[in-house]
Amino acid sequence: MAFVKVGALSALPPGSVMEVILGDDSYAICNLSGELHALWGICPHAGGPIGQGTLQDNIVTCPWHEWAYDCRTGENDFDPAVKLDTFAVKVEGDDILLDPAPRA
Ligand code: FES
Repeated sequence: MAFVKVGALSALPPGSVMEVILGDDSYAICNLSGELHALWGICPHAGGPIGQGTLQDNIVTCPWHEWAYDCRTGENDFDPAVKLDTFAVKVEGDDILLDPAPRA
């Protein structure tokens, strides 16, 4: 699938995470010290919105019950077998572009 514009870099400072909704799908985009990472945005625990969570270092924490994931890999920090899909994301100017096809 092709990259689509999902937001503005100026609205996602380093150390923050944003939620992106595309149709019925949800994504979480993290700005890790200027490096962007995109994850599936629905927590496998109970469906919480990962993109409304908090980012500390490389760990994004779900706002509902605090399951935590490495924003670089999607792995749960307690059980790496629980893993969120990751997605390609890039920046052009101030535009954040996401490819909604999961990485293999
Ligand atoms: S729904 Fe994410 S921790 Fe429970």
